[in-house]
Amino acid sequence: MATDGLKVGVAFNTYEPYIYRPEKVSEDSVARVAEVVCETLNQAGVPAVLIPLQRSMFTFLRRIKELEVDVVVNLCEGFFGRPQWEANVAAVMEVLYIPFTGNGSRTLALCQDKHQAKAILSSFNLPVAPSQLITSAEEMVDLRFPVIVKPNSEDASVGVHPESVVYDKEALAERVEKIVRTYSQPAIVEEFIDGREFNVALLEDGEPRALPVSEIDFSTMPEGFPRICSYEAKWYPDHILYKTTVPICPARIDEELRQKLQELAVTAFRVMGCRDYARVDFRMNDQGEIFILEVNPNPDISLDAGYARALRAAGIEYAEFWKMMIRNALKRKENNAAANGKR
Ligand SMILES: Nc1ncnc2c1ncn2[C@@H]1O[C@H](COP(=O)(O)OP(=O)(O)O)[C@@H](O)[C@H]1O
Ligand SMILES: [Mg+2]
Repeated sequence: MATDGLKVGVAFNTYEPYIYRPEKVSEDSVARVAEVVCETLNQAGVPAVLIPLQRSMFTFLRRIKELEVDVVVNLCEGFFGRPQWEANVAAVMEVLYIPFTGNGSRTLALCQDKHQAKAILSSFNLPVAPSQLITSAEEMVDLRFPVIVKPNSEDASVGVHPESVVYDKEALAERVEKIVRTYSQPAIVEEFIDGREFNVALLEDGEPRALPVSEIDFSTMPEGFPRICSYEAKWYPDHILYKTTVPICPARIDEELRQKLQELAVTAFRVMGCRDYARVDFRMNDQGEIFILEVNPNPDISLDAGYARALRAAGIEYAEFWKMMIRNALKRKENNAAANGKR
């Protein structure tokens, strides 16, 4: 299927009315990514226009219609300032038969809830770290310290800071209270897997295909900080924690480990019902046990983030990747039409 003669809309969310979170930088980056994707497609001869999703879903949909967009590149990470509504944006396009790239609403919703996503992964015998979902600091936690405390339904390391790793009950109670109050949601308390961190980016090219494994090198991180990809490490380029969480792709690992991580990633992709693209995050302890931290069905897809780095390591051009995703979306439309007896 060719992408000639098509018009692509690059959708992204830009409106943030509820400043309930102290973190803000990750929101702004969606607009920048959208611009880059739009430019990339235009340069590759695929006409593309930006379609911001602001405060009105109607205006957004009207723009898609008026511009006669054939397919939407969906970069929306939420709606109305709520990352939890990421799936709803996809759901609206689904019921309106607007073809779009990226994961469907069901997968986006499942992965957004870390606790439930882990329950699904472990029900398919995939390894996840022991954890508990808790809503108040008084609740008992039956886990081995140290643990890490995260908001259950955020991403992009929102709510993940050096203080998130706690070593005793008092610090745990304090952190849980802070998370529940700040983010108005339960906290997931997880055993802290001290060790190496890997990411596997995947793309669907007929079949799900794992790209080269990436590792975060924490070796230069100053003493006294837990070795994690905190918000500071992901979003503040001048921060010492950003400079000392160095991504390496392809990771320097042996064949056996590479294969194991890629296989686990492909299984996790399938189990969560992913399509098009996703990234799976892993930690490995010093005994070599591997744990899936999460499946990201809408990972940061900017040129300087892990996904694009893995594409480069695999020798896949950014424009080629997007064309592939657009073809996937159009193919789904065709299959739907056939299934609905329209052909
Ligand atoms: N159980 C854990 N053990 C060790 N590090 C963890 C654990 N959970 C999270 N982290 C660290 O925190 C980062 C962000 O956590 P993650 O669960 O991936 O949430 P997000 O959706 O915000 O990316 C991870 O990349 C990792 O560095
Ligand atoms: Mg993550």
